[in-house]
Amino acid sequence: MRVLSGIQPSGNLHIGNYFGMMKPMLDYHTKHETFIFIVNYHAMTSVSEAKTLREGTLAAALDFLALGLDPDRCVFWVQSDVPEVTELTWILSTITPMGLLERCHSYKDKIAKGLIPNHGLFAYPVLMAADILLYQANVVPVGKDQKQHVEVTRDIAIRFNNQFGETFVLPEPEICEDLAVIPGIDGKKMSKSYGNTIELFAGRSQLKKTVMRIVTDSTPVEAPKNPDTCNLFAIYRAFATPEEMERLEARYRAPGLRYSDVKKELLEKIWAYFEPFRKRREELAQNLDYVYEVLTKGTDKARAIASVTLDKVRRNVGLAYR
Ligand code: ADP
Ligand code: TRP
Repeated sequence: MRVLSGIQPSGNLHIGNYFGMMKPMLDYHTKHETFIFIVNYHAMTSVSEAKTLREGTLAAALDFLALGLDPDRCVFWVQSDVPEVTELTWILSTITPMGLLERCHSYKDKIAKGLIPNHGLFAYPVLMAADILLYQANVVPVGKDQKQHVEVTRDIAIRFNNQFGETFVLPEPEICEDLAVIPGIDGKKMSKSYGNTIELFAGRSQLKKTVMRIVTDSTPVEAPKNPDTCNLFAIYRAFATPEEMERLEARYRAPGLRYSDVKKELLEKIWAYFEPFRKRREELAQNLDYVYEVLTKGTDKARAIASVTLDKVRRNVGLAYR
């Protein structure tokens, strides 16, 4: 079974990305053939500064390696290092109906949020389809927001196979339904684009500031509180055992709980959770040659597979004419 997923380097990665995508992929990579990549072509649809893209890409690579990605047990690379994906995107775009893309929620949501749509944003799902089909992935673990894009990928693959003969494996989205979406410090979904994130590798004082800014309601200290509607409680859950959550719930339901005490405890938990990874990340940042070497080896492995698929595609559609 081949498992594949990518992440955009469009801002510092956060605990929502970690629990929603990175940790599941890190768990997979010791058990299945796993492909993890940093989708910098995709990030170009929202990042316009070269420096931001460059630094974000390297930061995402450092994050994954620090968090325990073993490059010998998976294929780990940066999307644009295998530019074959852009050729496949073009080929797929010629059989993708406009209507299929016009129906994509993610595109409509981004426009509704005020992003000025460019062609890249509209064609985003075709690039994602090329990402998945180029590597003949069977399973694509993604958050709920990305499910439709994997369905679009299947549609495109079915069309292609019908028109040009069996070429692509049909991928399945894997949505971890019981994985709660981690709320941001303002209670909306935590997202790089909402500026409400708790970053994975923020320094101590920045982390403290962020945790102290988690929005809570104005129930007085002496009154009992409702854990079910509290996003501080929801974020806490990601870092605590069920027993710890039971004890915290009892404190919420009794008078006297101070949100500021819970925030201080949460701060310690987050800090301790990422402590070992933080040291490793600092070491890696001092040894960028090693990181580049890892990405080069990953690129070679990815490219070997990509070129086999692309040769087959070129033959099947008639681009290979000699
Ligand atoms: P962002 O919204 O921060 O830009 P992306 O859209 O790049 O994040 O998502 C990267 C991966 O992280 C996706 O698989 C997505 O489902 C997951 N993810 C993002 N935010 C959250 C969250 N708040 N809770 C759980 N998973 C998340
Ligand atoms: N669109 C995905 C996101 O924003 C990122 C992505 C790009 C991806 N290509 C992919 C995810 C291929 C899975 C497979 O989260």
